[in-house]
Order: sequence, then structure tokens, then C-alpha cells
Amino acid sequence: MEQDLMRIGVSLPEKLLNKFDEIILQRGYSSRSEGIRDAIRNYIVNYEWMSDVQGERVGVITIVYSHTQRGLEDNLTEIQHEFIGIIQSSLHVHLDHDNCLEVVVLRGEGQDVRKAAENMMALKGVKHVKLTTTSLGKEL
Ligand code: NI
Repeated sequence: MEQDLMRIGVSLPEKLLNKFDEIILQRGYSSRSEGIRDAIRNYIVNYEWMSDVQGERVGVITIVYSHTQRGLEDNLTEIQHEFIGIIQSSLHVHLDHDNCLEVVVLRGEGQDVRKAAENMMALKGVKHVKLTTTSLGKEL
């Protein structure tokens, strides 16, 4: 069924919008709006997948962030201390002058793993967070 379209106004950094436009051009989208609708659908699917992560899991959180963002490294460290009970290991890589990569390996209840990833995603200056989970292999 055709749904009513709502109009929204969004403010974006120019670099982000230029990159997005480049990708939708390459992928052959008919309009920027179509690309944005698709991106929002992907966001929702990913969120629903994350909400569904349950039972004992091994999770890997990959974070790319700007280390020049004031207070961000402290906040990231604070979250990792908060989830100390399920964090197994972490790795820090200085990507370039401004950017850092952190990989955190967790093992615990899926919803706690998800919560740790979501808390990191919500921080200002975090550019990208990816959570992957795997089973412990016991039932395989
Ligand atoms: Ni660094």
C-alpha cells in the first residue's frame, strides 16, 4: 500500500553529504531521498537485529572515532570499565593524525553486549561502530 510521504529537514556536515551523494550516484539511485530512505531502512534492520541478540555470545565491537573530540576517550574508557565483567580484551590502533580504531572483544549475555555497543555508538565524535556476534561454538 502506498504510504503518505512526510518531509523532514536534516542538517549534515558537507563532507558527509558529498560522500553520500557520490555513493547514491554510483549505485544508481533515482534521487537523494531514495538513498536516504534506503539508509534509514538499513538502520532499522540493524537496530532490530541488535535488539535480537540474546543468550551467551561472543561479540566484537569495532569503533572508529576522532580522538580530538573532547572527553570522548574518557567516556569510551568509562563504558569499558562499566562492562569490565564481560570485556575480554581490547585493541587500540592510531589510524591517522585525528582518528583512532578500537576493537573490543566481549563475552557475556547478548543484551549486555548490545548495550555496551549502543552506549559507545551514542557518544559524540564516534564515526562508526560495528557489532558482530558469534556463538561460542558449543552447539555447532
Ligand atoms: Ni589512537
